Amino acid sequence: MELYDVMQTTFSGRTYTGDPLPDETLYRILDHARFAPSGGNRQGWRVIVVRDPATRKALAQLTEPAAKRYTAQVQNGENPWNTIDPPRVDAATIERTPAPPHLTETVMKAAVVLLICVDLKVVASTDQNLKRVGVISGASIYPFAWNILLAARQEGFAGTITTLAIAEEPRIQALLGIPAHVAVAAVMPLGRPVKTLSKLKRKAVPEFAMLERWGGAPLAPKTS
Ligand SMILES: Cc1cc2nc3c(=O)[nH]c(=O)nc-3n(C[C@H](O)[C@H](O)[C@H](O)COP(=O)(O)O)c2cc1C
Repeated sequence: MELYDVMQTTFSGRTYTGDPLPDETLYRILDHARFAPSGGNRQGWRVIVVRDPATRKALAQLTEPAAKRYTAQVQNGENPWNTIDPPRVDAATIERTPAPPHLTETVMKAAVVLLICVDLKVVASTDQNLKRVGVISGASIYPFAWNILLAARQEGFAGTITTLAIAEEPRIQALLGIPAHVAVAAVMPLGRPVKTLSKLKRKAVPEFAMLERWGGAPLAPKTS
């Protein structure tokens, strides 16, 4: 595929045909994804390839608590799980909100589930002393995760970065024997997509790019 086509059409695949994703293909996907950047080129990524139904079931169950809060907040008009505005839904509301199947069951239906982990012993987290949630550490793992999705697209497969289960990270670590200093960055179901989406909903450039300073004039396409 042409690069710009891949960039514009790599959608979140959550429904799959049931075709297998053989290790040989997975190897090829990871063999291309590994060229992702990471801070200091430390390449702290580790990938656990999960096919075992019992493990998937456990992962689906671990997704539920965060999915319930996510859904309750969306229904209440909030940006769910953001660290700036405290949630306006109470524990009882969250508890009685069902977790939507499309958020919990994808890991059961995918051909394979990848646990994308990162060894925090080698990640330079330069924002660790700031009074806000850390974002820099993610930059040493999510380019790799995204490369997997791009390569999967090239191979005719699709998947999604999912993070809801990671609210229960200690239980994932216990489930899979992951050491405490290794973070789980994504639970990524992959499979042959039932339908290939090609029109992704995204903001136009002038809605997010501004010139010179915050609030500056929007970057507009050249008209002449
Ligand atoms: C950091 C991150 C976390 C995400 N977590 C989840 C998740 O837990 N479950 C899920 O189904 N999708 C998850 N997504 C997928 C987003 O919902 C998806 O990228 C977005 O809706 C755009 O979808 P599209 O590319 O198909 O247009 C996540 C994406 C990112 C980048």
